[in-house]
This record gives sequence, C-alpha cells and structure tokens, in this order.
Amino acid sequence: MSNTDILFQPFKLKSLELSNRIVMAPMTRSSAPNGIPGAANAEYYRKRAQGGVGLILSEGTVINRPASRNEPDIPLFYGADALAGWKGVIDAVHGAGGKMGPQLWHTGSVKSSQTEWVPDAPVESPSGLVAPNDPRGNTMSDADIADTISAFAQAALDAKNAGFDTFEIHGAHGYLIDQFFWSGTNLRTDRFGGKTIGERSTFAVEVVRAIRAAVGPDFPIIMRISQFKQQDLTVRLANTPDEMTAWLGPLVDAGVDIIHASQRRFWEPEFPELDGQKGLNCAGWAKKLTGAATISVGSVGLSGDILTAFAGEGSRTTGLDELLTRMERNEFDLIAVGRALITDAQWAAKVRDNQTDALLGFDPATLGELV
Ligand SMILES: Cc1cc2nc3c(=O)[nH]c(=O)nc-3n(C[C@H](O)[C@H](O)[C@H](O)COP(=O)(O)O)c2cc1C
Repeated sequence: MSNTDILFQPFKLKSLELSNRIVMAPMTRSSAPNGIPGAANAEYYRKRAQGGVGLILSEGTVINRPASRNEPDIPLFYGADALAGWKGVIDAVHGAGGKMGPQLWHTGSVKSSQTEWVPDAPVESPSGLVAPNDPRGNTMSDADIADTISAFAQAALDAKNAGFDTFEIHGAHGYLIDQFFWSGTNLRTDRFGGKTIGERSTFAVEVVRAIRAAVGPDFPIIMRISQFKQQDLTVRLANTPDEMTAWLGPLVDAGVDIIHASQRRFWEPEFPELDGQKGLNCAGWAKKLTGAATISVGSVGLSGDILTAFAGEGSRTTGLDELLTRMERNEFDLIAVGRALITDAQWAAKVRDNQTDALLGFDPATLGELV
C-alpha cells in the first residue's frame, strides 16, 4: 500500500477548512419520511464524520418549488420542520468534528426509477422534455424560472444560517439545471436557450449569482456537473477544452469556488486525444481551464462502477495507487467517495490508519437502510 499522506493534507478555501481531502459523495437515500430528516439521518452522517471524512455532502435535498422532487422521502431543504431536522444533522456532524454541506437539488422532469409517486403539482423542465423527443413536464415560464432561482438562493442562505460549512448546487446527471445545459432538453429561444453551451449556461449562472448575493463573498459555493446524463450516458456537453471553458468559465466568474466533476470512473481521461489514456480526467481539465478548485469522484477503491450497483451487484475493494498518483500531480484538490462510504462508515479512518485490509467494499444490502 502506498503512502496515503496526500489524502490527509488540510484544505482551505474561503471560510471552509477541511482536515483532509476525502469528501463523502452526495447519495440519495430516500429515508426522510415526508421529507423531514430526523435522528436516523443525523446519526448516519455523524458516523461518517466520526469515521474521518473531511467533508460530507448530503444526499440531494430539494429547494422550495412545488415539484422539485420525484420521491416522497427525499428530504426537503425548506420549511421550519425540515430545516430544524437539518440543524440536528449539522450539529451532530460538528459534534463529531466533521464538516458538511447539503446538496441543493431540483429533479426537473426526471422520473424516479424507484417509485411511481409523482408530486401533486405539475412537473417542470426547460422545454417540456426529459430527453430528446421525450416530452415530460411543463415548459417553465419566466416567472417559474425567476422563482426557481430565488428558491436556490434561499436554500443556500438557509444552509449558511443553519450552520453548514458549505453547500453544493446539483447541476449534474440530467436533472433541472443540467436540462438547461443540455441541447437535447433545452430548446428555448429566450436568453436561457441557445446553440452554444455558453448560452445554455445562463440559467445556472443566474442561480449562482443569486446565491452569491445571498450568502456573501466568503461562503464557498460548490457546483456539481457531469458530461453524461442518466437519460443518455454517452452525451457530452463539452467535446473540446474550448467548449468546457465556455460551459464552466461563466459559472466560476459568477461565483462557483469548487467544481465537482462527476464521473463513473475517476481514472478515465476526458480528452485522451489531447493528452493520452493517462491524461487529465474531467475534474483535472475543469481545474486547468478555470483555475477553480475541483473534486473528482468515481469508483474510488472499488472494483465495479455505479451501474453495477444499480444492477444490484456488490464491489470488492481495490488499491488506491492511481488516485494517489493523480493527487500527487495536483490534478484535482479533493476526492469524493460514494458507495464505499455507504457500506463502511470508517472508510476514511481505515485508509488514514493504514488498515486497508479491513475495508469492506460495497455491499448492496447496505443500500436498503441507513447504517
Ligand atoms: C445510492 C446512490 C444515490 C446517489 N444519489 C446521488 C445524489 O443525490 N446526487 C448526486 O449528485 N449523485 C448521487 N449519486 C452519485 C454519487 O454521488 C457518486 O457520484 C457515484 O456513486 C460514484 O461514486 P462511487 O463510485 O464512489 O460510488 C448517488 C449514488 C448512489 C450509489
């Protein structure tokens, strides 16, 4: 096992100070009855803080729009009861020495794969589509868009006021913000649409600007993005570094401090035609092109990727050498760990203490309840 010290270097950006580089990836658990997080949710996150994770990103938690979630037990990030529940979560995490931010989410027109439940208000999306030629949801009006931007800003301010250390805007995986980025779901002819990815970033830019105005200059803003969509894993928003700059540059200019570039396998190069099969990954290019700090993610320490998990399969543990090499090269700043932390709350502490033989891998049975 290589020396893992690089993972345990502190990280500081604005008001955010982390004791190490390990981030718990945001993972929906649909375990907040009626959208209110309670003691079980607080205990689940407290264990990961106690287990040495540097920064916990919560499961997606939704903003104050009538149809912002697609499952009934996804937690809300609005209303007195839910916010009191979240205060219990962050207090528990802080009590264990951890740091945490909620992932702020609007599911757009994406249907849940787990339930037939639908919100009792109309689903909304940029152009009434969930995928190319696949209608779902009402096309958002100017008023809908303005209200959604305000709801994101309010949620970010509520996160700050509740005592969270940061928060993440969910701009990935084909949900609402990503539906604005994607030409396949954004056919708008107003200023929120356009032929170029730069034009289709306008909605996200306005979300970030409104948030920045609400939370002030020193509270760090993380934004998660992905080339792929759950609707089509082969989609790419940026086929060249220039397109990536046009996509992400305006977001950083608007106030994003940390880009969280979602990939299924962190070692896959983003533009191998330019720098080879061992070239920079998505987070690596995002950092190089924008100068922002970045988080990478994808199958860290596990033999199978997330698609195998959704097929009900487990994953064995694997080595961390490739991760350590990329971190030594300063390709990205932080690394998010997903499924391994669902099964093994002590994952970070075991890596820190060179007990990698004791890591548990990913057991799909642990998806069924909060352990
Ligand atoms: C059960 C589960 C729920 C997830 N929910 C979310 C989510 O709410 N928001 C999000 O951005 N990604 C979500 N993801 C993706 C993870 O954040 C992460 O990117 C993915 O699992 C790859 O990391 P891993 O290979 O370490 O598991 C989820 C993944 C899993 C397994």
